[in-house]
Amino acid sequence: MDANNRYRKVDLLLKGKIYLQGRVEEACIGIEAGKIVMVCKEPNAPYAEKVFSYTGKKLILPGMVDMHVHMRDLGQEHKEDWYTGSMAALKGGVTTVVDMPNNIPFINTRESLLLKVEKAKEKSIVDYGFYLGFPASLNELSKSRDMIFGVKLYPNDLSNSENLVNLLQKCAELDLLLIVHPEDPTLLEECKKWASKIGVKLDPSLHPMLRAPVVEYFAVKNLLEIARRVHGARIHFTHVSTGESVKTILHSKLEGRKVSFDVTPHHAFLNSRLYAGRQANIAKVNPPLRPEEDRRIIYNALVNRQVDAYVTDHAPHRFEEKMAEKYEDIPPGFPGLEIALPLLLTEVFEGRADIRVIESYSLKPAEILGIAKGQLAVGFDGDITIVEYGVEETVKGEDFFSKAKYTPFEGYRLRARVVDVYLRGLKVLEEGNVIGRRGVGCFARRIER
Ligand code: DOR
Ligand code: ZN
Repeated sequence: MDANNRYRKVDLLLKGKIYLQGRVEEACIGIEAGKIVMVCKEPNAPYAEKVFSYTGKKLILPGMVDMHVHMRDLGQEHKEDWYTGSMAALKGGVTTVVDMPNNIPFINTRESLLLKVEKAKEKSIVDYGFYLGFPASLNELSKSRDMIFGVKLYPNDLSNSENLVNLLQKCAELDLLLIVHPEDPTLLEECKKWASKIGVKLDPSLHPMLRAPVVEYFAVKNLLEIARRVHGARIHFTHVSTGESVKTILHSKLEGRKVSFDVTPHHAFLNSRLYAGRQANIAKVNPPLRPEEDRRIIYNALVNRQVDAYVTDHAPHRFEEKMAEKYEDIPPGFPGLEIALPLLLTEVFEGRADIRVIESYSLKPAEILGIAKGQLAVGFDGDITIVEYGVEETVKGEDFFSKAKYTPFEGYRLRARVVDVYLRGLKVLEEGNVIGRRGVGCFARRIER
């Protein structure tokens, strides 16, 4: 900690119990021009334009970084837009989101990406970044390089291994991340064909069987095999949901491969029993919720800090869409941004996880993305989330800022709530109310390595 600050002046000083490098300490953080310029003990604190002291059961954490969200907008504004989606993020203590390309139109060119950037610029109250979908021409990657963290691969992109090798090579050359939804397209098709051949009427209770664990496992295995052929490729498996995939990925890390993975709150805390009850439609998500045995492995990997990131896969749809009669018409996914951090902190404050578990939602994804965020340290952005603990709240979808006002976590008890949030030193959430103006969010830029 810096000791010679008393004759300095900063824009903003926050005092209280701060999460610093794995521990909580009573300290101060000074912010100037949006950046953290000092972390010091109270007697050495500088003069500041604004001072906020957080006393009692409040904790000062870095703003969270969610590297997998769907903010929709463009052709799907009825489901979510960058304003409501980013409000949901703030409510959940998230200050940076990275958005997926499955919009209308599909975002796999620089030109279409620019349409989305405009929307985020105009409306977002959190910082943002993007992935490109698999482009028809790999030139699109060089053309979009300054605006993306990487390329998102969907199940349908995983069938052609020659194309994948070329893509991996290009990504390695440009130092772009390959973020993969691992479900094997051929096996998915086979499951559907069988169901129709034997005349099974599909409904949500069959969802986990139609996308069985082996579908994910084979996709993970296959991609790791393909990646062996390309030097320098960085592969990140997202929303990993089965024990076998976790084992395989951890093993390939031990072999020194450049591979990482994330898990979601729903795969860590919920299991496939939900498909037998009233929540069945709402809980439809890809990959599906898994049996308790897999759920437990995902949960353990999260609380034992073996995962590289924790992501929401915030995937809002209209409630009426989720209530569709026919299984095939129910869109997969649900919102998650407002409760992901409180759910994680509940594990901490009820003594089941170490506070360092929050790094999977801050420091670790920021490192994967290569951004100066996710840590309360000098030189990092002044993105800060204040949480109150010792509270007892109940999850209620109807209170969400997201346009999707439902959740499979309805009724869950939370032992933490987000109070205030600062984005690059500017207060944007106060006492749970959004006070940041539309468009205050910025591009989260990579530090060139
Ligand atoms: O459940 C999901 N919903 N999985 C996906 O891969 C896509 C997402 C969405 O965009 O709705
Ligand atoms: Zn997604």
